[in-house]
Amino acid sequence: MTKLVIKKPDDWHLHLRDGELLKAVLPESERHFNRALVMPNLVPPITTVAQAIKYKDQILNLLPKGSDFKPLMTLYLTEDTSISEIKLGVETGVITAIKLYPAGATTNSSSGVNNFEKIKPVLEYMTNVGLPLCIHGEVTDSNVDIFDREAVFIEKILMPLRNDIPGLKTVIEHITTKTAVDYVRSENSDLAATITTHHLVINRNDILVGGIKPHYYCLPIAKREHHRLALLEAATSGETSFFLGTDSAPHVNTAKESACGCAGCFTATNSIPILAHIFEEQAALNKLEAFISINGATFYNLEPNKSFLTLSKGTPPISPNTISTIEGDITIFDPGYELNWQVL
Ligand code: NCD
Ligand code: ZN
Repeated sequence: MTKLVIKKPDDWHLHLRDGELLKAVLPESERHFNRALVMPNLVPPITTVAQAIKYKDQILNLLPKGSDFKPLMTLYLTEDTSISEIKLGVETGVITAIKLYPAGATTNSSSGVNNFEKIKPVLEYMTNVGLPLCIHGEVTDSNVDIFDREAVFIEKILMPLRNDIPGLKTVIEHITTKTAVDYVRSENSDLAATITTHHLVINRNDILVGGIKPHYYCLPIAKREHHRLALLEAATSGETSFFLGTDSAPHVNTAKESACGCAGCFTATNSIPILAHIFEEQAALNKLEAFISINGATFYNLEPNKSFLTLSKGTPPISPNTISTIEGDITIFDPGYELNWQVL
């Protein structure tokens, strides 16, 4: 196969940042995606509907004329988030999902949740109105090894939470383990998982062997190879509970290449060509559309996009390694091989 026409993809987990970074990274997503679920971990975090409206307007104002890219907004859940704020988000149609960060789990998550009891009334309300909860699924206990934090979160937090609040539409985001794949498969259709591009490409050796690779460091951190293979199998299975959320998370190089580097891989630019490459290698190109364009929309009760994206295979175009911003360069994720699929 040398040409592939699929419905335009959606990105169900994206960091667009704000200010100069937003200006620089937005075109990279707009080029290939029709919709994106925009993460609220700005400084300060997007905790109110008014902030979400303002942020959405900022994004819309930067889109080129005629663009049909739609930012879908999220609210950052804190222990103080009120039901009335969520209700406002639902009734105005501004909010597509609520984002739960365990406090301290990742970049700009310090306002997140410590005490899960406190958010239960809000989660019950969300269940009643069918508003999805997107979860960064890692515990933050200092005595839990970083490579175990997702599995421990599923067992200690997510399973009890889902038992207490049955029917809550939940996305366990950017899964990195076979544990998560198996758990999602064992549950009903209220639970889904996003999988990133980079977690389909790298394992923990890629980060650490032969020298530390700061541009492969993200959270949740990439795990052992058998976990990557489980993610690959899930993503290419076509099963409706797995869909793309790139978690494209730009940081300027000086913040990544540092004695204490930030977590995040910037994959907005080349996610689609990388995924076409991977799916072809797995003899699963016929499942690519389900993973990037259909399953997520279905979970969110939205129609798949009406427009199409054409991919073609051939001599790879010369592609830049970085994008530049006024704040500094951002390194584009390097899959470690030449890409021969391109978006026309
Ligand atoms: C994200 C970021 O930089 O905002 N970083 C990351 O490693 N994925 C936050 C997140 O989604 O964890
Ligand atoms: Zn993220």
